[in-house]
Amino acid sequence: VTPKYRAFRGSILHFLADPGESENEQAYAYFADGLMLVKDGLVDAVGDYVALASDLPANTVITDYSGKLIMPGFIDTHIHFPQTDIIAAPGTQLLDWLERYTFPAESRFDNEAHATEVAEFFLDELLRNGTTTALVFGSVHRASIDAFFTVAEQRKLRMVAGKVLMDRHSPEYLRDTPDTGFADSAALIERWHGLGRLGYAITPRFAITSSDQQLARAGELALAYPQVHIHSHLAENHDEVAWVARLFPWSRSYLDVYDHFGLLREGAVYAHCIHLDEEDRKRMVDSGATAAFCPTSNLFLGSGLFDLAGARDASMRVGIATDVGGGTSFSLLQTLGASYNVAQLRGYTLSPLLAFYMITLGNARSLGLDQHIGNFAVGKEADFVVLDPDATPLLARRMQSATSLAERLFLWMIMGDDRAISATYVLGNLAHSSTETIQHA
Ligand code: GUN
Ligand code: ZN
Repeated sequence: VTPKYRAFRGSILHFLADPGESENEQAYAYFADGLMLVKDGLVDAVGDYVALASDLPANTVITDYSGKLIMPGFIDTHIHFPQTDIIAAPGTQLLDWLERYTFPAESRFDNEAHATEVAEFFLDELLRNGTTTALVFGSVHRASIDAFFTVAEQRKLRMVAGKVLMDRHSPEYLRDTPDTGFADSAALIERWHGLGRLGYAITPRFAITSSDQQLARAGELALAYPQVHIHSHLAENHDEVAWVARLFPWSRSYLDVYDHFGLLREGAVYAHCIHLDEEDRKRMVDSGATAAFCPTSNLFLGSGLFDLAGARDASMRVGIATDVGGGTSFSLLQTLGASYNVAQLRGYTLSPLLAFYMITLGNARSLGLDQHIGNFAVGKEADFVVLDPDATPLLARRMQSATSLAERLFLWMIMGDDRAISATYVLGNLAHSSTETIQHA
């Protein structure tokens, strides 16, 4: 068969390394008038338009996004699809919020038809916001993940997800057992992990809702399947941290509980990590686990201010995430704005180049997926977004006085949201457009 080529013209930005705090120009490639050639869904070439346009394969159709910025698709390192319908639930902090809103909403995901309908909406919403890959919590029900992966697979999305493990301190109707949680997770791994672009994450909700036996079984599962992700919550809220200390009186810290049960390694992602000490940070670094910083959630639930500077100084892996429905937006642009504000409150300035690195190549590295996604290196999967500098009258007006790339990125990060996403592409195919209706298979 003859290969299928497509080409995209516009400004193009992608990262090659962590730019650090000093806006290191070696860390990224930027083409003001660029061209990306895609062959059978993979990046084939990226460079200046004038250099590449003259010898494109015959009949290559060029889609022209001149005036807009093409970047790798955004990656969300922590989000809950069953919480789509309880986003913006008012008035409580974490433990009350779980009981009042979260558990009732998640109880409906034993129904695969409901789970499928929500998964369709959820994935539409991610794509509308420029997010092409996410690490996703399901509910305790195996059906929630069968539904989610079925829809993600139809759309050829690179997604990682897992069924929640939860056998105590939660409503009876939402509990599994150490054995059923193990068996259902193993069955889901066998069915889905490595199928197309899908990956599985072993997903104990948090230490409070899993017994010692269940955490031990999760550790066994992690040993049996060394290639899958591990995904949980850690040190988000003061009352939560105090409860964990009472439940595991032998533990040195909250992190130590997960460590004890063999749940720390590369590819393990712990959401929040707000209340960690020096020794915890060191253990995170040594194990290769990732902290997912979820600023809109941390502000909304009053959880606290993540120490981004401290985490970076310690060389901890840090991902950025929305944490919908504790988080209040699907947009990683809005999430960067909130990250900037949280960092400001802690006396650290988040540079726009570092910020956009974090939601692309940085998050790909955090998830161990950077051999496939995260930048436009030749051979990587052509998942990308097209950012609109004229998304609103005010943004367009303000952009006129932004001359450098960093200034423009800063405006998207502080003022941008779903309106700034002109289009989202998956494997070189249009998956969202602000101007056209897309039919999904
Ligand atoms: N800790 C345990 N479960 C959850 C959850 O669903 N959301 C958040 N933000 N924290 C949690
Ligand atoms: Zn969460």
